[in-house]
Amino acid sequence: MSHQPDSHGHIHYSDDENGMWQALLERQAEQIPNRACPAYLDGLKKLNLPATRIPQLHDIDEVLQATTGWQTAAVPALISFGKFFKLLANKSFPVATFIRRFDDMDYIEEPDIFHEIVGHCPL
Ligand SMILES: [Fe+2]
Repeated sequence: MSHQPDSHGHIHYSDDENGMWQALLERQAEQIPNRACPAYLDGLKKLNLPATRIPQLHDIDEVLQATTGWQTAAVPALISFGKFFKLLANKSFPVATFIRRFDDMDYIEEPDIFHEIVGHCPL
């Protein structure tokens, strides 16, 4: 389920959704050492992602802004190419706000927030 940020930019996730994040991050943490390049590892360290809950995009933005001048833009799911490239042209990286379900842990067609944050934001 996609989520909209509230008036403070905070997205409320359920315990199950935060549990999915934790399970995915734990699994990736086993795979990343000796596989990821130094730039990715450095970015991941800077992001200092929470282990037990989905991070808030404003926390990600603090790091992205300070290091690259970019920020995230919350989107519900896949967006049109026009909107996608318009966001990129304005240094905004679209991040789908939903996370996959346990049934889809190994693979999901559409990029979810785990894919966006852990896959892309470190670099
Ligand atoms: Fe991607």
